[in-house]
Amino acid sequence: MPDTLAQTLGVLAALMAGLWAWQRFHYHSYWLLIGFPLVALTVRATWRKVALGCGLTKKRQRWWFTTVPGAIASTGIVKVRRRFQRVAVDTKPWMWLPRPTRHGWRVTLWTLEGQIPADYAQAAERLAHSWGVHAVRVSSPRPGRVVLAATMRDPLVRVDHIPRSGELLKVSVGRLETGGLWSIDFRTVPHWINAGATQSGKSNLANALIVGLAPQPVALVGFDLKGGVEFTPYAPRLSALATTRGESVGLLDDLVALMVDRMGLCRTAGARNIWQLPPGVRPVPVVVLVDELAELYLMADKSEKDEVARTSTALLRVGQLGRAFGIYLFLSGQRIGSDLGPGVTALRAQCSGRICHRVNDPETATMTLGDLDPAALVSARAIPAETPGVAIVASQDGQWYRARSFYVSEHAAEYAARTWSHLAPEWAEVIRPGHSSGLDEADLSELLTA
Ligand SMILES: Nc1ncnc2c1ncn2[C@@H]1O[C@H](COP(=O)(O)OP(=O)(O)O)[C@@H](O)[C@H]1O
Ligand SMILES: [Mg+2]
Repeated sequence: MPDTLAQTLGVLAALMAGLWAWQRFHYHSYWLLIGFPLVALTVRATWRKVALGCGLTKKRQRWWFTTVPGAIASTGIVKVRRRFQRVAVDTKPWMWLPRPTRHGWRVTLWTLEGQIPADYAQAAERLAHSWGVHAVRVSSPRPGRVVLAATMRDPLVRVDHIPRSGELLKVSVGRLETGGLWSIDFRTVPHWINAGATQSGKSNLANALIVGLAPQPVALVGFDLKGGVEFTPYAPRLSALATTRGESVGLLDDLVALMVDRMGLCRTAGARNIWQLPPGVRPVPVVVLVDELAELYLMADKSEKDEVARTSTALLRVGQLGRAFGIYLFLSGQRIGSDLGPGVTALRAQCSGRICHRVNDPETATMTLGDLDPAALVSARAIPAETPGVAIVASQDGQWYRARSFYVSEHAAEYAARTWSHLAPEWAEVIRPGHSSGLDEADLSELLTA
């Protein structure tokens, strides 16, 4: 009946159009209700084939019913017999149910004997192609388990805008590839290296930090030896800014003195770090932003040698001891290696937070990310120039992520710096020797006994 056929086709077309519109305009609910269940079923159903193809199976001896050709019966028909016997079968890692994530799904696997997470990491690209997803990332929450996280399409092509984190010294600066927030938390990871070629997004990330930290009760300090072009517009919110070598030597001396002073304060109070001090006594945290680290080490002539040596020693001391006394470093640069001068390698070792934007040479990636998983280095070198702000982020837990910073224009950072300028403590107040808390000895002992 042509009528019914036309009707059926009409309904089908309407259904397809509806699904298309749903996925187009409300992808999130579409993904949870339609896309993900289909994908999960497919993944479970094809897991055996995929695991076999990606070399993730093992041969195991099993008792199995096998068919063996039997005798030819008098009728001339071959009788097939089934027998229970030992055979080698391909065993796949046991897979738990996939769970949806914001941009894809994740699933836990039980590793087979002799397998390590690196075996899965090696197969990640194969898995991604087999499942037709953008990427598969491998992590291992505990021995014997491997978590595969698949992202359907690159979530870092577009990232939305900066939400405010309520925590002191913590800033959400962008998005991780997993869809989660990328946060820089100076209280967990005190010192950071932010490396990348020019135009890779280093300054954008510093802008994001300034926007995030400006409304918080912290002192911001800038070092910008490229004539101050980067940080001068943010001066209203900075407690101190060095734009020349002379200024930076002075400012670093101040920071070291401040650290010694706080050390004394903590010793008097019997505290290991400023966070163990009572809130009334606790000095204000200081975040030090350096725009092009190499400039601090460059020498125009021999006469600057002593200044550079002083700079280097002071910065290293801040790196070594600053964490306990509330002084945090965020060092940006194109290359942060020993070629800058002595002391840089030691300084780098103090920075457990590593951010590697697009780089021009493999050594810079290795230098920045250290001896991480080789896949992280490959990933760092594959960052395209069209997506500035994309970076590989690593911190002390040994995990690494691909992430992208929120776009924060100079204009937005400048606006934040002006809006919150009243929160910028005067540098003279911050460093007043023996008075970092604005209290004298008597107040201090009173507070501490209270
Ligand atoms: N996360 C991002 N999203 C979009 N554009 C970005 C992002 N990060 C940087 N950019 C753009 O890329 C260009 C270079 O960024 P910039 O931070 O100045 O790089 P760098 O300091 O490494 O030279 C700028 O035009 C900036 O607006
Ligand atoms: Mg820059």
